[in-house]
Amino acid sequence: MAGPARRARVVLFPLPFQGHISPMLQLAGALHARGLAVTVLHTFFNAPDPKRHLGFSFVAVPDAIPNAVAATNNGIAKILALNAAMETSGLVRDALASLLKSGEEEEEPRLACLVIDSTLTATQKAATSLGLPTLVLHTGSAACFRLFRSYDMLHDKGYLPETESNLHLPVKELPPLKVRDLFDPSKLPNKEIGQKILNLATETTTNSSGAILNTFEALEARELEMIQDELADRIPAFAVGPLHKLTSVDGAQTSLLNQDRSCIEWLDTQAPGSVLYVSFGSVVHVTQDEFMEVAWGLAYSGRPFLWVVRRGLVLGVEKPELPEGFESMVEGKGKVIEWAAQQEVLAHSAVGGFWTHNGWNSTLESICEGVPMLSSPLFGDQLATGRYVQDMWKIGILLEGVLERVKIEKAVRTLLDENEGMEIRDRARDLRNKVQMCLDSSGSSRQAVDKLSYPNRILLLD
Ligand code: UDX
Repeated sequence: MAGPARRARVVLFPLPFQGHISPMLQLAGALHARGLAVTVLHTFFNAPDPKRHLGFSFVAVPDAIPNAVAATNNGIAKILALNAAMETSGLVRDALASLLKSGEEEEEPRLACLVIDSTLTATQKAATSLGLPTLVLHTGSAACFRLFRSYDMLHDKGYLPETESNLHLPVKELPPLKVRDLFDPSKLPNKEIGQKILNLATETTTNSSGAILNTFEALEARELEMIQDELADRIPAFAVGPLHKLTSVDGAQTSLLNQDRSCIEWLDTQAPGSVLYVSFGSVVHVTQDEFMEVAWGLAYSGRPFLWVVRRGLVLGVEKPELPEGFESMVEGKGKVIEWAAQQEVLAHSAVGGFWTHNGWNSTLESICEGVPMLSSPLFGDQLATGRYVQDMWKIGILLEGVLERVKIEKAVRTLLDENEGMEIRDRARDLRNKVQMCLDSSGSSRQAVDKLSYPNRILLLD
């Protein structure tokens, strides 16, 4: 009689940026909780801290991003350089080969698959060369998954390249997007690398055994259905989000920077629903002029705010300085910190709105707490997400065009006080309740995780 199936191990390789490391570690936590052994492969650059994840094993793979690229602010160039370096060095293949070998020993969990960030083509090639199947984690929305696969169509139909005169046009094939919401690679200083980055996720998905998406049915039902149609039965898609609610791995464990917890004590002193939380995530930059407009817009709004001014937020400036007179003007009303305990901040009853760049993690975290958004998307997938927030889910206000203090001041007041803000707030609360349903034991996200794994095994690959 056959004995019980041997425990399986999954290896996960995140892209080494905050917005990608967090969901990968959250997924690792969800799989670990279901009995799977977990190994995280990672670069030295932005390495996660093994001491914060005692149940996982960690294996570092030297990244070898050329110093000149590592020193730039160009995230896209870093991803391409990382893939190129990993392909040349063969070090990922060596690490996987060694894990496969240990998994052959009877007392060790056998290695079932590699879960990769959708941009890491080199890691997939290494796995494939060893006969190891891959699953691909898409850390953005389902809408962006579809958008990034639609660039041939967008060029064929003349939406791209963007022009001054077509920015306002709706993209009929991808509602509710407008041309201005598309990430146009031809606008980058190096067009070729822009196009290359868009192709990575399509390549890894096509060559994978399954696509994992950090989103949920009640939010993106139509998009998810279309994705499954497009991928056909060959590549199943699993909507397992919001991952941060499906795991015990918390924000403090995944954060690359130390979170300043004094902001929670400060929020305790503020009236319920009164505070605007402001953060533009971990990678985007604003110009010095935009920074000034944000500061004065907040000050003139007269509303309490908690503003994350991380190091490097202002292009070319390590530690941005607040404008003269700002601190005295907002004394007692505004708090500025370098990095927040964001998930806790958004869950705090004093927070009434989130001014965000609409990175996908921030957007999901806001949705989960029913916090309405003021959207200032700046780059890439953020642009489409900002449009969805305002025009599809109707849980926020999109600040379009140049950042100007007067516009900001008005938008902050609308979001926090006026009638329009009230409707937006009600819808945000409704959506929060729908998230809860997806997370219940019979909810769609739980079921997706059940389809993906069951005690000790990755179902799909066993
Ligand atoms: C990047 C891209 O910018 C984004 O468009 C893409 O969707 C994911 O990768 P990032 O800019 O870091 O992400 O934004 P986001 O996805 O929102 O992730 C930021 C994470 O940092 C969130 O999980 C948030 O909780 C955390 N955070 C942010 C903190 O812990 N403290 C802070 O002060 C700010």
